[in-house]
Amino acid sequence: MCGIIGYVGARSAGEIIYRGLENLEYRGYDSAGVALVGEQLAIHKRAGEVADLTVPADETATCGIGHTRWSTHGPPTDINAHPHVDCAGEVAVVHNGIIENHEALRDALDGCEFVSETDTEVIPHLLEQEVHDGASLTDAVASVAQAIEGSYAFAVVHAGENAIVATREQSPLVLGRGEDGMFLASDIPAFLEHTREVAYLEDGQVATITADDIRLGGNASSTSPTYETVEWDADSAEKGGYEHYMRKEIHEQPQALRQTLSERIDLNRGTVAVDLDFPTGYLDSVEEVQFVAAGTSYYASRYGARLLEELADVRTSVTIASEYEFGGGRDPWRTLTVAVTQSGETTDTLEAINSAGQAGARTLAVTNVIGSSVTRSVDDTLFIKAGPEIGVAASKTFSSQVTTLGLLAVAIAHERDTLPRSQIRRLLGDLNGLPGAIQQVLDEEDAVRAVASEYLDMDAFFFIGRELGYPVALEGALKLKEIAYVHAEGFAAGELKHGPLALVTGRTPVIALLTNGAQPAATTHNVAEAQTRGAPAIGIVAEGRDVEHLDVEFTVPSSGLFEPLVGNVYLQLLAYHIANQLGRSIDKPRNLAKSVTVR
Ligand code: AGP
Repeated sequence: MCGIIGYVGARSAGEIIYRGLENLEYRGYDSAGVALVGEQLAIHKRAGEVADLTVPADETATCGIGHTRWSTHGPPTDINAHPHVDCAGEVAVVHNGIIENHEALRDALDGCEFVSETDTEVIPHLLEQEVHDGASLTDAVASVAQAIEGSYAFAVVHAGENAIVATREQSPLVLGRGEDGMFLASDIPAFLEHTREVAYLEDGQVATITADDIRLGGNASSTSPTYETVEWDADSAEKGGYEHYMRKEIHEQPQALRQTLSERIDLNRGTVAVDLDFPTGYLDSVEEVQFVAAGTSYYASRYGARLLEELADVRTSVTIASEYEFGGGRDPWRTLTVAVTQSGETTDTLEAINSAGQAGARTLAVTNVIGSSVTRSVDDTLFIKAGPEIGVAASKTFSSQVTTLGLLAVAIAHERDTLPRSQIRRLLGDLNGLPGAIQQVLDEEDAVRAVASEYLDMDAFFFIGRELGYPVALEGALKLKEIAYVHAEGFAAGELKHGPLALVTGRTPVIALLTNGAQPAATTHNVAEAQTRGAPAIGIVAEGRDVEHLDVEFTVPSSGLFEPLVGNVYLQLLAYHIANQLGRSIDKPRNLAKSVTVR
């Protein structure tokens, strides 16, 4: 979705902002633009890629704002691209989110000349009136924030003033303090190569950013933000020699999982620590753990929910976040509601978890991004610690989400005393072995690449699995659709014969999860049903398991209930290599965005 970057300091704002826009590309966008501050504002903007945008090399400005736009109101055109300006061209605004009352505001702004179809354009015109009436830019932004409705983040510059003023409401904005300037962005990777000292703007706060300071609030009572140092380094948000972020992130999974697990399991004592402040006895009394999530995070939640049922004997439900309002929240006061969201910014998931909290549920976020909106909405947060994920398609974060939910399931099982200690030790051993097991799968990449070339021109792919293999089948199909634009569906293996089998032909490979935790014996029969109808069969098979007549077999190292998760790495590699051989835009698939901040 849209991205914001701002810089004010001693260096060339044009260069820093342009680079920041490149770093924001992964969020998904269709237009880009910058506003640079001088006695007059210099605006450069256009539809298309950041690479299509030219910022003149002789720009001497040291203050400016930039934007990548993902269209909501009005198509991607040069005119609809941000920044938008007031009638005099003295105030420029970049904006993420949606101004819900923009039509009423537009009608009320009699006499202003609107040139775009965007909701955003009301903001510079509202600001122009405030500034005209003598308000400082900071006070003008505070006042306009009162007038607009919706979820938004916006940043403003004014001709002749080396300062940026910004505010937010349910849309992220991060501040950065560097040695030779101050930064503002919708996401840390935008300025991570310049500083790791960050502060998170809260809803309703107004930040005034100058070359050597950032102040929060109005002039009379301003305060300094509280900075923290992020662990991510610039290299982790770079491609590091890989052709695509996604391939790099697939290969980073062993390291990401070491991070997810670090300091959380004690193999000697057979204990797991997830650092959650639940009231004493809470986990014994909770009647249901309800997950709300979208996309890949929804599939990770289904995996986690099944682990909780199996290990901790807790009733669970998993609701697609955008469906939660239609009856998702029964008996909230007896429920722990868990929002699983990599970005922590998905609007559907935020709305679901907020309504669960308002209805009385205890709420927990499982997320990757420190300081993200979801962390402010919930009672507790469990970080998955996967490091930055730039590719739009989730890969390492899926593995870290499932692993984190596995840790949570074991912790709750321990608390509720539902498992013998020997089984807890075995589970912790399996979790601890995940980085090594995934590395073994990654070492098979050449074989997966060869299979990708062999099946490149098939009509469709069907992924099947049972129990823990079912969410992985759904995730495998999503990955292939998302990055290869190939028709793919995931099915519960037992459902194949209830309808989808009619689609099966010699040109529809069936990919089956045949590992422990995925009921391999029963699924093998479903594979045979498809093969009888001519379908090529690709098996993701538990080490040591003998499955006859498969056309392709990939072996999954022994990891108990986490074998479907390890097997998923084959599905990630398969999707990646099919997409790569088809020449797709892997890191930025068409029509998709990394952080989905609209309903
Ligand atoms: C996965 O590859 C997708 N990019 C998408 O399904 C994603 O998981 C979904 O939009 C939810 O995002 P979140 O985890 O940031 O909430």
